[in-house]
Amino acid sequence: MAATRPMTPMDLLKFNPCNLDHLTETYNIGFYLDYFTRWPNLCKVIEGENGQIEAYILGKVEASPKAAPAGPYDPSLKIYQKKHSNYLPWHAHITCLTVAPSARRLGHATLLSEALEQVGDEQDAWFVDLFVRVENEAAIKLYKKMGYRLATRNGTEFC
Ligand SMILES: CC(C)(COP(=O)(O)OP(=O)(O)OC[C@H]1O[C@@H](n2cnc3c(N)ncnc32)[C@H](O)[C@@H]1OP(=O)(O)O)[C@@H](O)C(=O)NCCC(=O)NCCS
Repeated sequence: MAATRPMTPMDLLKFNPCNLDHLTETYNIGFYLDYFTRWPNLCKVIEGENGQIEAYILGKVEASPKAAPAGPYDPSLKIYQKKHSNYLPWHAHITCLTVAPSARRLGHATLLSEALEQVGDEQDAWFVDLFVRVENEAAIKLYKKMGYRLATRNGTEFC
């Protein structure tokens, strides 16, 4: 069975099998180093037998950039609907999840997402969210199977 391990800067030299994919974004090196430094527990890989990276996930924990409204978080309260509709409490976010085409449908994405959820729980995250392209049926099916709900805001779907 596949195992996850923390992602390190050296893995950036071995992740081409995942990133040669039109749905996978390749960022500048500072972006990855920022994630490895600030959220090391939320960046994980699955390595193949040949040493190449077969799958990886990058995540973070954060709250909305705005200061939290006073009192306990309750999105059904009018103050949240009127004044703070964009406020998000402390939560985990999946920034990037990708699996090399040769390693798909082996449960890698599920394993990495569950590992991120577990760290989110340990860090008191209220929920996990992510963005997914409307046409990305495979990813939408994956997240629905994992129990995520689909929402739409300004034409963008997110879970
Ligand atoms: C989407 C993606 C991450 C799935 O990775 P994966 O390791 O193959 O997913 P899993 O093996 O964990 O699949 C779990 C479930 O998701 C669904 N699923 C995954 N890929 C699917 C596909 N191509 N078509 C339909 N359902 C799919 C299935 O329900 C699957 O369960 P099953 O295999 O028992 O039927 C992978 O296809 C990928 O890297 N795509 C390109 C990058 C991308 O879209 N990332 C997500 C951005 S939000």
